[in-house]
Amino acid sequence: MADPGPASFSTRANALLRKNLTYQKRNLWSNIRLILIPFYLCIFLVAIQILFDSQVNNSDDNRCGCQCIPNTNGDGKCVKTCGIEYSKPSQAFFCSIPSPSRWPPLLQIPQPESRAVSLASNGDLPNESCRRTGSCPVTILFTGNNKTLGTSLYGNLLTSSFTVNSSDFLQGLAHNVLGTTEEADMTNYLDPGIASNVSLYNIQSQCVPNAKFPFSFGQSPLEFKKELICAQGLNLWRNKTTEVNDELFKGYRKGNPEGKINEIAAAYDLLNTDMNNFNVHVWYNSTYKDDSGNRPSTLVRVSRSVNLVSNAYLQFLQGPGTRMLFEYVKEVPKSESRLRLDIASLIGPLFFTWVILLLFPVILSSLVYEKQERLRIIMKMHGLGDGPYWMISYAYYLTISMFYFICLLIFGSAIGLKFFRLNDYSIQFTFYFLYVNLQISLVFLVSSLFSKVKTATVAAYIYVFGSGLLGLFLFQFLIEDSSFPRGWIFVLELYPGFSLYRGLYEFSQFAFRGNLRGQDGMKWKDFSGSAMDEIFYIIIVEWFLALMAAYYIDKVSSSGKDPLFFLKNPFKKSPSLRRPSLQRQGSKVVVEMEKPDVTQEREKVEQLLLESSTSHAIVCDNLKKVYPSRDGNPPKLAVRGLSLAVPSGECFGMLGPNGAGKTSFINMMTGLVKPTSGAGIVQGLDICNDMDRVYTSMGVCPQHDLLWGTLTGREHLLFYGRLKNLKGSDLTQAVEESLKNVNLFHGGVADKPAGKYSGGMKRRLSVAISLIGNPKVVYMDEPSTGLDPASRKNLWTVIKRAKQHTAIILTTHSMEEAEYLCDRLGIFVDGSLQCIGNPKELKGRYGGSYVFTMTTSSEHERNVEKLIQDVSPNAKKIYHISGTQKFELPKEEVRISEVFRAVEKAKSNFTVFAWGLADTTLEDVFIKVARTGQAFNVFS
Ligand SMILES: *[C@@H]1O[C@H](CO)[C@@H](O)[C@H](O)[C@H]1NC(C)=O
Ligand SMILES: *[C@@H]1O[C@H](CO)[C@@H](O)[C@H](O)[C@H]1NC(C)=O
Ligand SMILES: *[C@@H]1O[C@H](CO)[C@@H](O)[C@H](O)[C@H]1NC(C)=O
Ligand SMILES: *[C@@H]1O[C@H](CO)[C@@H](O)[C@H](O)[C@H]1NC(C)=O
Repeated sequence: MADPGPASFSTRANALLRKNLTYQKRNLWSNIRLILIPFYLCIFLVAIQILFDSQVNNSDDNRCGCQCIPNTNGDGKCVKTCGIEYSKPSQAFFCSIPSPSRWPPLLQIPQPESRAVSLASNGDLPNESCRRTGSCPVTILFTGNNKTLGTSLYGNLLTSSFTVNSSDFLQGLAHNVLGTTEEADMTNYLDPGIASNVSLYNIQSQCVPNAKFPFSFGQSPLEFKKELICAQGLNLWRNKTTEVNDELFKGYRKGNPEGKINEIAAAYDLLNTDMNNFNVHVWYNSTYKDDSGNRPSTLVRVSRSVNLVSNAYLQFLQGPGTRMLFEYVKEVPKSESRLRLDIASLIGPLFFTWVILLLFPVILSSLVYEKQERLRIIMKMHGLGDGPYWMISYAYYLTISMFYFICLLIFGSAIGLKFFRLNDYSIQFTFYFLYVNLQISLVFLVSSLFSKVKTATVAAYIYVFGSGLLGLFLFQFLIEDSSFPRGWIFVLELYPGFSLYRGLYEFSQFAFRGNLRGQDGMKWKDFSGSAMDEIFYIIIVEWFLALMAAYYIDKVSSSGKDPLFFLKNPFKKSPSLRRPSLQRQGSKVVVEMEKPDVTQEREKVEQLLLESSTSHAIVCDNLKKVYPSRDGNPPKLAVRGLSLAVPSGECFGMLGPNGAGKTSFINMMTGLVKPTSGAGIVQGLDICNDMDRVYTSMGVCPQHDLLWGTLTGREHLLFYGRLKNLKGSDLTQAVEESLKNVNLFHGGVADKPAGKYSGGMKRRLSVAISLIGNPKVVYMDEPSTGLDPASRKNLWTVIKRAKQHTAIILTTHSMEEAEYLCDRLGIFVDGSLQCIGNPKELKGRYGGSYVFTMTTSSEHERNVEKLIQDVSPNAKKIYHISGTQKFELPKEEVRISEVFRAVEKAKSNFTVFAWGLADTTLEDVFIKVARTGQAFNVFS
């Protein structure tokens, strides 16, 4: 087959996309479940809304009251009549009020205990003792250019007694100055100063102590019996505006050094008022708040203070007979209203924060899964670069996320949630779109912190639920507290969970208000006035920052450095540098002990490096790997200087006991770990710098199968085949062939998910994957473990065939396999090669003896020993158990015919149960080399 060359970016992207799509198709149900979550939540919200409507919005308490009024024609039937007169006070708010009542205008005055008293500086105020009796006066300050005018004017302000001298009650009351400490309402349909049971005050220039005037107002059902309490009014002149201002300021607890509340009821600046001009400034306190922090309109009370001063001026000009009476305040008529609380809008921010954030753990766990199962790295080893990986993953997760929130929008609107319906869809779409982008970038960034799916998932869910709850109970509280500095709100919004929460909160507020007033919610024109613009900018900026950081960290960590390397103390030596003595000593010993064949290979490598020829696919020059010391153990030398050259077309077998460093070596060559020192050249490319290009011509069969449980064998091969730039019929053919080669073709095995494969089948699939697309270099880490003999034979044929244009490095524990497959073998013990050569050579070199076994009855043992002595004086007994003995006979002094003759002779002398003469096997060589190698290393 022609070499298709390395795959292009789009080919690799396409391969990954197709794999992901197949993967998602398999996970269809979990995807549907994911999409259904918003659906369930919307249904849940609708259910809450229905419950809330029936219990609260439509309850009798939240609509105008009705009663059944008997018919006037006396037929015993009754007519349901609604109106304020049939309502309980709580219902009155909702009634239509075609002709609102008239209420006397009230002046806002401070509570008796907070009225101004004499502090250190202002001597003309009363002594603090009045607070104990509750008889402190209501202070009103005056200033202006003409004190004479001012004092005579304020003499007209208050009456000296309570008089109701009129048939018209309100007109009579208007001669008096009524004051209340109760805060005003937003409307004047019912003044709380009159409707509540807080005392009303009549402010007079003189007061008889404890004078009270009973007083009743309105008609049933709005009849209020009140007692008017006399409050002394105190008018004081101040020379300058600034003095008035200072004194008003002292009303605040923090405004005066004593830390007392010291409130002035009202203040007037008469400016340049004279006989011809009336010009006045009125000070009033607008800080009154209701419990929810809203500011009711205190303006409804300001009118009275304006009237007071105007009336005083008029009397000053015209004499006491002329009056400007302010009889009553009256609201405009109103129609019936209903409570329309949209509960979904109120709890929406919490729920939808959860819904959107829920994608975080989903994406995170799938990214970390690929990392944990090393699928990411194995894809990379087969040529899937970082570029296509991130791009396709990004696009892919973005698609899922968009699908998800669009479903949310559609469900929510379809079910009728005001949260979605009232706000402009384009704003909503943009908001969610930007946020999911930020979220995906964050996942990419965060995924580098985790290596285990479990920890990642737990952490992500804590983030999801924590953000929602903190948003509701902390962040929202702070947003609504108008005294909390906005700058800090901005800082909090930098936390992505809160910026999402804030956005949803704004939507909910607009939807809630819109619903209450029967209008639309947020429109683009409200965009900049609603803190939404701020959120958008935060999200966009964070999105780019997160992307850049994720890219940076990925680049750095894939190049093997610690992502926080710049934070590390540059003076702290790295472990390999810290113990140079050990390393040097180690390599010296190795050189001393090195066998001639190993030295020869080393020289060959040095020669090759000088020639810089590429005839050898793999060249390793003195590769070393030292794992830094951990938990007080000394640093571990996994590979101590390995030199090796493998030409194309050769299969190099690496034998060695467990823990000898074979896998460390393979990991270095496949780019999983960086060599501590030394160099590896694959196809003329350096493994430290050019790994990405090396990958395009490399195949790996790792020791542990790295497969996707839900993808089938065929799909695996198709994916990796595409990565290796196979296309169309070439691809199908290659896949079919390799399936047949590894015996996965028949019986529909190829189309079963790999998760259901037996260990042997997975193994075969891994080998097939490593060989697909004719890579130039293949590493196989124990390819045939766990295979039955028939499959193993099959596999060997496959590998043997593949070997023709490929350099293969293979580790194995099976000597049979090594002998069958490998052109050369190296025995690797404790981090270094003990010998190198083809199997025959090795056997010749290390075997050098026959093994003679004979079983007799135990009394003839001595005879056997004697026999061997005769045949070969230097024979060694290596094994002895009840009549069975094993000897090693040096080849050079033994001739096989002699042995046979001796045995024949012996058979005539005593009974020989069994005997045998064997050439050394590879296994014997292995055991011998391994034993000496280890012994040497133990003592080194
Ligand atoms: C102050 O007002 C009085 C009248 O109340 C007037 O007689 C007097 O001239 C005014 N003084 C000045 C300085 O304008
Ligand atoms: C009540 O008002 C009338 C005129 O409206 C007046 O004649 C009468 O003297 C007033 N009575 C008192 C007690 O002020
Ligand atoms: C206000 O001015 C008058 C005279 O102009 C003066 O006697 C009085 O002390 C001043 N009051 C204050 C508080 O400065
Ligand atoms: C204004 O009213 C508020 C609320 O009653 C009070 O706390 C504050 O001290 C008042 N300010 C002044 C200057 O009187």
